[in-house]
Amino acid sequence: MTWGNKAGHQLPDLIESEAELDEILSRPMQETVETVSRLDGDILILGVSGKIGPTLARLVKRAVDKAGLRKRVIGASRFSTPGLKEELEKAGVETVQCDLLEENQLDNLPDASNVIYMVGRKFGTEEDSPLTWAVNTLIPAMVSRRFRRSRIVVFSTGNVYPLVPVSSGGADESTPPGPLGEYAQSCLGRERIFEYFSNKYGLKTLFLRLNYAVELRYGVLLDVAERVFEGSPIDLRMGYVNVIWQGDVNNIAVRSLELCSSPPEIINVTGPEIVSVRWLAERFGALLRREPVFTNREMETALLSNASKCFKLFGCPTVTVERMIKWVAHWVLIRGRTLNKPTHFEVTDGKF
Ligand SMILES: NC(=O)c1ccc[n+]([C@@H]2O[C@H](COP(=O)([O-])OP(=O)(O)OC[C@H]3O[C@@H](n4cnc5c(N)ncnc54)[C@H](OP(=O)(O)O)[C@@H]3O)[C@@H](O)[C@H]2O)c1
Repeated sequence: MTWGNKAGHQLPDLIESEAELDEILSRPMQETVETVSRLDGDILILGVSGKIGPTLARLVKRAVDKAGLRKRVIGASRFSTPGLKEELEKAGVETVQCDLLEENQLDNLPDASNVIYMVGRKFGTEEDSPLTWAVNTLIPAMVSRRFRRSRIVVFSTGNVYPLVPVSSGGADESTPPGPLGEYAQSCLGRERIFEYFSNKYGLKTLFLRLNYAVELRYGVLLDVAERVFEGSPIDLRMGYVNVIWQGDVNNIAVRSLELCSSPPEIINVTGPEIVSVRWLAERFGALLRREPVFTNREMETALLSNASKCFKLFGCPTVTVERMIKWVAHWVLIRGRTLNKPTHFEVTDGKF
């Protein structure tokens, strides 16, 4: 049985395979196809081989094909995951393997009027913070120079905000930055570098402050579900989270290309719900037939964003939290493959 939503997408009750999951995550909305039709030039995705990039690249290619266009869709990355480069090429995405910390490698990238920037480093910051700063601020400087005539949608993070009182409903785009810890500080650095070049060259850019993308192979929901299933304790100090289905993130990222501006536009990207981690674990407990184990108690503050501006611009997300919970619980029960990349959403001191 399927159910529809206002975007006209048919979504299944449960997802049974990675092929089905990838198809849903890379499904372009009609509005995305229309955006792609209006854009001049090719589309380049930098940092394409991470958790989000592969489905985003496929979505862009499908939108281009659906619009009947001959635009090139190019993905560049180190391609640390074996086989991914070939998979993307099979889907019609051109690939360039490069380490963007090596300056001369940027010269090998093709020109593109549209760039989606997804390069980043988070985990391992405590062990090698200079590398995190280099990836998160030096590469943006080199990319800004190289693509100063392009429009660039930059994946940023809600971590640039401080923890806010849960009662506030979350930080909105006017909330002053207050990044906690070096990873978050370097992410604000990433924005500031793009902003500097936007001011200097008129580079048209836009920051997507995302927290947290969810699909079945990784994400906050999977982290909580796995802990409930294994009987591992769930730390409640970071007691509330925002989440958004990654397919919605992908569509928003492409549609944002039309909104790039100088000075930069900023958009919080997440779902409308403030999700209680305790409630989430209890929902998973009911679906997985397990009793969740908790430690600590909810703090009065949490990493929360208010994404009202995003909903005004692009409409509400097409997948609800309840739907995501059912999909994730089923994925855990059928032992679906995971990326083994926990989000560490429970971190309260900014140390990753
Ligand atoms: N996923 C989320 O929920 C979330 C939440 C908030 C913000 N974000 C932001 O959104 C962006 C994309 O998210 P993600 O989860 O897909 O990130 P990710 O899994 O960490 O992917 C980062 C990408 O950057 C590439 N990269 C890193 N260093 C590079 C270098 N020197 N040269 C070339 N490529 C390099 C990686 O390539 P290889 O893998 O091939 O090494 C990978 O493709 C990130 O910047 C992150 O800050 C994501």
